[in-house]
Amino acid sequence: MKKDVRDYIRTIADFPHEGILFRDVTTLFADPRGFRMAIDQLLHPYAGVRFDKVVGLEARGFILGGAVAHQLSAGFVPIRKKGKLPGTVISQEYKLEYGEAIVEIHDDAIKPGERVLVVDDLLATGGTAEAGIKLIERLGGQIIGCAFIIDLPDLGGRRRLEALGMEVHALCA
Ligand code: PRP
Ligand code: ADE
Repeated sequence: MKKDVRDYIRTIADFPHEGILFRDVTTLFADPRGFRMAIDQLLHPYAGVRFDKVVGLEARGFILGGAVAHQLSAGFVPIRKKGKLPGTVISQEYKLEYGEAIVEIHDDAIKPGERVLVVDDLLATGGTAEAGIKLIERLGGQIIGCAFIIDLPDLGGRRRLEALGMEVHALCA
């Protein structure tokens, strides 16, 4: 019997590049008990806390963020890779564990002062989350927390986000 969210996550070596140990959460998402456990545990620290928006980071943050937003009765806002959003956007460059990218948010997706929870599946270097945080803060959003299924502590993402004043919640390493 699987007891912990980490029991549902598989690791695939050398994806998408040699040397990367890819944490594959599709096996967690595919399991009814595992997915419910993950959403419940992501929400746990925020009982009684009010949020206006949940921001999900592409792509796996959308799956988690939608479920979390529904539970919090909050709106959902996607941060997407460059060129995917149809409206007027603001953009932010960042470095990945494997490569570089640009993320974007609709410039009217968050109003100044709105209370935001950032959600993604995995925190590695923290580059993706930091870019998302910058976009949200440029729109005047107030980030109450950043929640992840997995934190890879050796890659320093938690320290990086905490240095920005963020409260980081992760279910497993
Ligand atoms: C993964 C993961 C995070 C990010 C973490 O997404 O889902 O968003 O990397 O890495 P970082 O902390 O070093 O920035 P990926 O860039 O693989 O995009 P995808 O979900 O669209 O495949
Ligand atoms: N994003 C960045 N590093 C990753 C990893 N090791 N597994 C899954 N997603 C990632």
